[in-house]
Amino acid sequence: MCGIVGYVGNEQALPVLIQGMRQLEYRGYDSAGVTVGDKGELHRVRRAGQLGNLEAALSDDGLNGTIGIGHTRWATHGAPTDANAHPHLDSNRKVAVVHNGIIENFDVLKKRLISEGMEFHSETDTEVIAQLIGSIITSKGCSLLEATFEAIGQLEGAFGLVVIHADAPDTIVAVRQDSPIIVGATSDAGLVASGIPALLAYTRDVVPLENRQIAEIKPGSVRVMDFEGNDVASEVVHVEWDLDAAEKSGYEDFMLKEIFEQPEAVRNTMRGRIDAQHHITLDEVTWSRDDLLGINKIVVVACGTSFHSGMAAKHAIEHYTRIPVELDLASEFRYRGPVLDDQSLVIAIAQSGETADTLAAVRFAKEMGAKVVAITNVVGSSITRDADAVLFTHAGPEIGVAATKTFLAQLVALNLFALYLAQELGMMDAAKLRETIDAMRALPDQIEEVLALQGEVQRAAKRYADARDFIFIGRGVGMAVALEGALKLKEISYIHAEGYAAGELKHGAIALIEEDVPVVAILRGTTLYEKMLGNVQEVRARGAQTILIAPQGDERARLLANELFEMPVTKPLLTPILDTIPLQMLAYFVAKERGLSPDKPRNLAKSVTVE
Ligand code: F6R
Repeated sequence: MCGIVGYVGNEQALPVLIQGMRQLEYRGYDSAGVTVGDKGELHRVRRAGQLGNLEAALSDDGLNGTIGIGHTRWATHGAPTDANAHPHLDSNRKVAVVHNGIIENFDVLKKRLISEGMEFHSETDTEVIAQLIGSIITSKGCSLLEATFEAIGQLEGAFGLVVIHADAPDTIVAVRQDSPIIVGATSDAGLVASGIPALLAYTRDVVPLENRQIAEIKPGSVRVMDFEGNDVASEVVHVEWDLDAAEKSGYEDFMLKEIFEQPEAVRNTMRGRIDAQHHITLDEVTWSRDDLLGINKIVVVACGTSFHSGMAAKHAIEHYTRIPVELDLASEFRYRGPVLDDQSLVIAIAQSGETADTLAAVRFAKEMGAKVVAITNVVGSSITRDADAVLFTHAGPEIGVAATKTFLAQLVALNLFALYLAQELGMMDAAKLRETIDAMRALPDQIEEVLALQGEVQRAAKRYADARDFIFIGRGVGMAVALEGALKLKEISYIHAEGYAAGELKHGAIALIEEDVPVVAILRGTTLYEKMLGNVQEVRARGAQTILIAPQGDERARLLANELFEMPVTKPLLTPILDTIPLQMLAYFVAKERGLSPDKPRNLAKSVTVE
């Protein structure tokens, strides 16, 4: 998510930091900052917005010093402001920290540190780390490395950290837990970053830290340890990639990279929201139980891919809570004169948080007195200002125009929200809630399993890349998958694709089926498996080529499939989180076969700010 750079050596740190931060710009960010150490003091400059804002501020205030850390932020806790930008310092201004990830227990730690007299100056989870390390050093008189070891023992969540201390001018400490940290191996300097592009101007020899490793970096030397403090042998990897490939971590396109980031996106969206007792806490949703009891109808509004996650959410919310749910395209919503009042809850979904139609729908709903919760991936986006509550998806920046990881993260956030409502309203018995949450927790590993189908999907894509039309069918939440599969394919491959409710096919669209038309059928996400098989038979009888998304070991599906993608077992309402993935990959590989650029499809923009 965020970009991290650190330098210690004989040269001025600042130009090295800025150069590295520039190479991480492609990731998208909302603010940037640097801290440089000199003569026992830390000097810090931070600015909201583009790196240019920071550079302009630095031109008046050049920072001298041969050790420093820099950060480009993608906000998770707290809006993108100067004060929330990294690096964060401890109260004595001796420790500086940059962080990528999410600290799940930051609230508890923050309260404790405040009770011990610390003053906080930001809304971030990261400031807690700086204060914690600083307080350990003050109370125990230990080194930066020792204090960092002790601090990470208290942190829960994901963290790539880089830490410096004003009185340790030759040492950087870096930590990796579920968030990448790459150390540069050079003979005279110490370099560290969250991504290889930031290091390429200085070295092609890197030491990627493994999970739960900590590095002490000095000019010309790197010591790597595990979290128990044992030294571990580190492997130097020589990077052959050019800058373009490095930005995409070696993937050919951002879209493919982002498809492969989905296990992490899903993990991050659940992070800190489910405790060991299977209780769901959504800090951002502050309505009381009485407020929730007063809701007699829910309306979901969104556009495009977000509309498809809303379609799956309608099923989940109605199933778990028995509250009726309407689903509206945001561009239609306010023009149809919807019936809304203070007992209505509107769920507005927009990965960008900037879609004009969805913003207008939010304003309209608020004027009608409804409560509004927004589901978005972008902290500080317009929708977060207009809605009463916001549930962030934490998928990290998405650069490919076609939404992939943000879609899966939305599905997770919406399922969590549906379960949260059921939990608060007492609509779900504890055993069922527990079972469903366990199924959600299994998803990141199951997504990995589905991603391993890449080769099979690519072979299928080769076979159908010249098709003129594609039909996608499904029922229940499988219909949302069908619609999303069709949208992905048409937007990046420019093949005409229809997503349809399988039962509707015979009311018209079946006329499109002729010899060799590929039909993708989602056999899950519905109680009507037999009927789905019937629909598959119907299209086969008319010459269609069938591409089936089916449960693992489904022998009946095998007999009817030209291509079969077998999916790991999960709860029916969670199946879109797995079943969409082969369709994302299919769209991607078909586009590649056709020589198109999946990241930048024609006529499309990442956020649609006009109505
Ligand atoms: C499709 C896609 C679009 C967006 C739509 C809404 O891959 O990305 O259909 O889903 O423009 O965007 P958000 O979610 O930002 O409101």
